[in-house]
Amino acid sequence: MSNIIYSLKSVKKTYKSGSGITHALDGVSFDIQKGEVIVILGPSGSGKSTMLNILSGIDVPTSGKVKYLDKEIGKYNDKELTSYRKENLGFIFQSYNLIPNLTIYENVELGAYLSEAPLNIDELLKIVGLEDMKNKFPYQLSGGQMQRVAIARAVAKNPKVLFCDEPTGALDEKMGKQTLKLIQDINKKYGTTVIIVTHNPSIANLGNMVIKMNSGKVTDIHRNDEIMNAEDIRWA
Ligand SMILES: Nc1ncnc2c1ncn2[C@@H]1O[C@H](COP(=O)(O)OP(=O)(O)OP(=O)(O)O)[C@@H](O)[C@H]1O
Ligand SMILES: [Mg+2]
Repeated sequence: MSNIIYSLKSVKKTYKSGSGITHALDGVSFDIQKGEVIVILGPSGSGKSTMLNILSGIDVPTSGKVKYLDKEIGKYNDKELTSYRKENLGFIFQSYNLIPNLTIYENVELGAYLSEAPLNIDELLKIVGLEDMKNKFPYQLSGGQMQRVAIARAVAKNPKVLFCDEPTGALDEKMGKQTLKLIQDINKKYGTTVIIVTHNPSIANLGNMVIKMNSGKVTDIHRNDEIMNAEDIRWA
């Protein structure tokens, strides 16, 4: 049995705008192992979000192969992409996007909606340290707490893969580390494959594998022998 969850071969994504062409992804190839934490690093405009969009089926490549398990998702139509996302993926963004008129419990419960095997919401709220806040509304929470609600909501359906685009971008060091710790805990407890996109090079210490990007190309891939705890990283 292969342990590979994603396999990319010569993936390109090209955008045409007016007279110009942008190679947002310019021939990238790598595999991702199931249950690992992957950190994608690179400067602004290097293609990180494009990569995340292609892996998560928000967009399809211009050419090349993108496989999820044994399925070629790079060739999926919109309907197939929607069910791929619904059945397998969770998302955490820099903005929390909580529903203001729903309680914390209800916001998290929303993430479990339509899932065949959702996690227990009370247990999940305990894991993210918000069991005492479950009847409060989002405006009553700090930024770090709101991000924890967003994480709980993203994992409530027990996704196979958790995608995080700049998950600590709006947070200070303390809240950022707490958020990363939680993502680490979820990876360990549920075996969720985690893909984190970030500008912050310190976060590379949390990945089993680190992919560096520049101008749409992968410039370096390495594996970490030792993975640091989120509390112990130096914040850049
Ligand atoms: N929908 C689009 N149409 C045209 N060009 C795009 C589109 N999306 C991205 N690009 C271009 O592709 C390149 C890569 O963009 P991408 O958003 O993947 O970068 P990024 O690494 O995520 O940057 P940031 O760190 O600022 O979020 C950029 O030059 C960007 O302008
Ligand atoms: Mg981006």
